[in-house]
Amino acid sequence: MLDLEVKIPGREYKIYIEKGLFDKGAELLRPFVAGKRVCVLSDTNVFPLYGEKITECVEKAGGTAFSVVVSAGENSKSFEALERVTRTVIDNDFTRRDVIIALGGGVVGDLGGLAASVVLRGVKLIQIPTTLLSQVDSSVGGKTAINVPEGKNLIGTFYQPSMVLIDTKTLETLPEREVACGMAEIIKYAAIRDYEMGVKLMRGDYEIEEIIRNCCAIKAHIVENDERDTGERMLLNFGHTLGHAVENYFGYGTLSHGAAVAIGMCTITKWSEKVGMTERGTYDYIKKLCEKYNLPTSAEDMDKMTGAVRHDKKRSGDVITIVLVRKMGEGFPKRISIDELDEIVR
Ligand code: NAD
Ligand code: GLY
Repeated sequence: MLDLEVKIPGREYKIYIEKGLFDKGAELLRPFVAGKRVCVLSDTNVFPLYGEKITECVEKAGGTAFSVVVSAGENSKSFEALERVTRTVIDNDFTRRDVIIALGGGVVGDLGGLAASVVLRGVKLIQIPTTLLSQVDSSVGGKTAINVPEGKNLIGTFYQPSMVLIDTKTLETLPEREVACGMAEIIKYAAIRDYEMGVKLMRGDYEIEEIIRNCCAIKAHIVENDERDTGERMLLNFGHTLGHAVENYFGYGTLSHGAAVAIGMCTITKWSEKVGMTERGTYDYIKKLCEKYNLPTSAEDMDKMTGAVRHDKKRSGDVITIVLVRKMGEGFPKRISIDELDEIVR
């Protein structure tokens, strides 16, 4: 079993990673759930696959399990779903010592995290991520959110979990498209912080548990330095500014988030290399990595996305901070003008 600790003073927590980890679920959960009420939040795809196992672990560890199952998909990051989770907690007499477990991908993780942070002014939260994206990214670092019609993730909090349990066996049931989404984030970590991981990914010579641990370690380190996203944490947005514009242009759901991020990473690096801010060959390397993991590297009609880029919430006046890579493994933030960004997508 691999493990690591996220060291945020006063709110340290462990991440455990293993194929078949759920077999040790009761043992790992016991310190957090014995004698407690536990709301297992999941979605309509994940609960039928793993809900019974996790509920059994909770009961075996001496907890009393309740479940909330929301519809699979981004639409469940809603006020309505938040109300269902928080009401389950209140109606079943939970106290602040009790626990919400988020069992699923980033949607359930973000929703469960937000619910845990606000109900009773905070109950304990355990993340059990089951998509590759949530295992390498969203379950770690404490960002929680739901969406509103005005925009994605506009209602949210920072709230760290008490533990993260990653059973890589869950990836066996994950659809290909979702695996590719996680791979895009993994390539992002290699590009901004881990040259060696990029080499392994290019060779295809790695254990997924080791890759997940690497990504969680990079994210943990960044979050330890900048939990509230005022500086270094921005590096995690590499490929995302253009990626969001691409997603927005094609309509959310048409193109996967991972595909959009891959297009974003390639487009921005092609430009930064052209203008001399990135070592030559880096664009080609990132492009080859994306191709290897079945991710697109460009989109038609990029020139029509200038409007979407201008609406980015990270924009401040005529300037926006984007993330570039100097070379593989070395990401850095760069303030550029909105006009320059228009030029990039053109
Ligand atoms: P998701 O939660 O929608 O999961 C993708 C699909 O896979 C869903 O249909 C789900 O039911 C299904 N699924 C999950 N695990 C499965 C399994 N093991 N087997 C079969 N099917 C499974 O999407 P996601 O990509 O995990 O997360 C995306 C969300 O995460 C977005 O809302 C995004 O905003 C958020 N996010 C948050 C952070 C953060 O730091 N909090 C970071 C990145 C992304
Ligand atoms: N995925 C972006 C962040 O956690 O900051």
